[in-house]
Amino acid sequence: MTDKLIIFDTTLRDGEQSPGASMTKDEKLRIARQLERLRVDVIEAGFAASSNGDFEAVKAIADTIKDSTVCSLARANDRDIARAAEALRGSNRARIHTFIATSPLHMEKKLRMTPEQVLEQARQAVRFARNLCADIEFSPEDGYRSEVDFLCRVLETVIAEGATTINIPDTVGYAVPELYGHFIKTLRERIPNSDKAIWSVHCHNDLGMAVANSLAGVKIGGARQVECTINGLGERAGNCSLEEIVMAVKTRRDYFGLEVGIDTTQIVPASRMVSQTTGFVVQPNKAVVGANAFAHASGIHQDGVLKARDTYEIMRAEDVGWSANKIVLGKLSGRNAFKQRLQELGIEMESETDLNTAFAKFKELADRKAEIFDEDILALVSDESVTP
Ligand code: KIV
Ligand code: ZN
Repeated sequence: MTDKLIIFDTTLRDGEQSPGASMTKDEKLRIARQLERLRVDVIEAGFAASSNGDFEAVKAIADTIKDSTVCSLARANDRDIARAAEALRGSNRARIHTFIATSPLHMEKKLRMTPEQVLEQARQAVRFARNLCADIEFSPEDGYRSEVDFLCRVLETVIAEGATTINIPDTVGYAVPELYGHFIKTLRERIPNSDKAIWSVHCHNDLGMAVANSLAGVKIGGARQVECTINGLGERAGNCSLEEIVMAVKTRRDYFGLEVGIDTTQIVPASRMVSQTTGFVVQPNKAVVGANAFAHASGIHQDGVLKARDTYEIMRAEDVGWSANKIVLGKLSGRNAFKQRLQELGIEMESETDLNTAFAKFKELADRKAEIFDEDILALVSDESVTP
């Protein structure tokens, strides 16, 4: 089994399905270029058959991007698949991602099809797609809520027809980590030809567990592709977040034992670009890309970080694209952090007494003001009682 984890980014397809996150062709192309700089393995550029606009966006991305595989979603029918193939024609690494729902609920109420009809449609779709493209991904939509015996039959069939990646969506974010991980494991163990395909996880965040579920799918289930989006953008509560999954696997390489090909220094620029393009603000306490993800406000933490950063940092801010970590000066800050900031501002205190006086003034000000900025410190030390 390969020890590389394939990062499949679907910001431009599933992310765009987030209400209010619709993007123009040019915006999508700009983000696709950033995803290529980030070195994601697969960019799902859109759903070519869904509109002429999305067809043009997928086509522009397929014609431009060279270092990542470019993928289009397609329902399991000839028209969608042919349209996807046409949009992807300019790509040197194209993938068609076809899907059909397999859960009893979706088959009966949404598709109004019998399981046998669904099985046959999946077979025909993958057979048709395989004649147009070598790289075929198949997803049983609402896969996690599907009946295992039936799902095994469908997946064995599509692998026999040439599907190269099998993706198991937790479409409605219903899974919990251990169960999802074992679900993937069971499928892989029960399907005789399962090792002919790469297994993939696709988790939604309705219960806030998309990243945890994806990691369990990798660790317990043996999946080697994760589908994710920048900032966790996506339908309803979103998808598994790229920055979290990538940094989890990298930071805990001791546990996961997997490589990712991502240039992590491009994570924050990608997050900002997606946020600015969609207008979706990133919450300050968001892991990895939130403004506070590497900020320290408490005096004890600031003192620790100034002595050795790994006392309170498990990753480097610079490694994910921040210029530095951040010591936020305020009422909880200690003398050490204050002294360090004076040095950074080029201010030298003539004596310990001057430093103590300045620190006392700083503390007094900090009780009145939530955050002390560099300008506040400069004003404070230019006061006559303290020599700058
Ligand atoms: O969530 C889902 O089921 C999907 C599929 C189309 C892969 O996005
Ligand atoms: Zn999805």
